Amino acid sequence: MKIAVLPGDGIGPEIMKQAIKVLDFFGLNDAISYSPIGGAAYDLFNDPLPEATLKLALEADAVLLGAVGDWKYDKLPREFRPERGLLRIRQELNLFANLRPAIMFPELVHSSSLKPEIVTNLDIMIVRELTGDIYFGQPRGINKNEKGEREGINTMRYSESEIRRIAHVAFLSAMKRSKRLCSIDKANVLETTELWREVMTEVSNEYPEVQLSHMYVDNAAMQLIRNPKQFDVMVTGNIFGDILSDEASMLTGSIGMLPSASLDENSKGMYEPSHGSAPDIAGKDQANPLATILSLAMMFKYTFDDQKKFDAIEGAVKKVLQDGFRTADIYSNGTILVGCEKMGNAVVERLEG
Ligand code: IPM
Ligand code: MG
Repeated sequence: MKIAVLPGDGIGPEIMKQAIKVLDFFGLNDAISYSPIGGAAYDLFNDPLPEATLKLALEADAVLLGAVGDWKYDKLPREFRPERGLLRIRQELNLFANLRPAIMFPELVHSSSLKPEIVTNLDIMIVRELTGDIYFGQPRGINKNEKGEREGINTMRYSESEIRRIAHVAFLSAMKRSKRLCSIDKANVLETTELWREVMTEVSNEYPEVQLSHMYVDNAAMQLIRNPKQFDVMVTGNIFGDILSDEASMLTGSIGMLPSASLDENSKGMYEPSHGSAPDIAGKDQANPLATILSLAMMFKYTFDDQKKFDAIEGAVKKVLQDGFRTADIYSNGTILVGCEKMGNAVVERLEG
């Protein structure tokens, strides 16, 4: 078992330290190799995804990533920015299938900004396409047009095969859950997503048990707030998935709780919290490490096919919440406020097996 650990920037290193304690608990210290990514890598090697980091990630069975980005890099040319490192590693590893579960832990119902009855027992799986769409489409850039005026260009594009392969991931995920799949597009305006809808409908013929529905993205954004429990598995393109997954995460109380898996065709994966690098609280021992720890749990489930370790880690996280431990982002009256380090320790103390 080879795990590449890429802590990244901001709160990345401190949340990663907590996940590593969990790996230590399972005696897996020898499986880990570290490498920098994002701003941390730029500072050392002038490249947000250095050759050595990419090589390590390509050779590993799975990658565990903290977070990338810091305001101090925002003025750099785009290819040197931390986000570029993240986008490139997703592309180079062909991690086209991004799974972002939004699950409500009963103890956190009151951390949500929505009424308890709207979010209690919420359990949504967002399947986001991750290596196509306007994120990678050419042409792109900021150029002068005929009038000598600056013009920004990005291109939304999806090929049929790109849509087809993410469709299969989504249908298979629906088969394992409640057999309901909602595909999100903007087919009333955008041709790219008109094709998306057509291909989703074609693929649905191979999954007669799954009930496929379609929804426009603007309506989906509204429905997620109005009545999120109508959704089970949602599938969508890269940019819509980016936006809707942040929205869905907040239904569950805090984006600091949500893990993600990004998979290739062979279930090799990169696992990272859905949240960003939060430079404003970096190094202050305030970050919530649970999304990273839950991402590690997803690694065991999806790449190593080890449901037992998944259950053990998720169980320990549940116990920590039941015992009242909260980082600042999920704190409410009557609970115990802890920092990142203590939260990590509390999880490890509750691990079994
Ligand atoms: C995410 C992030 C990234 C994205 C950024 C950091 C490039 O927002 O993983 O959702 O847009 O995909
Ligand atoms: Mg995002």
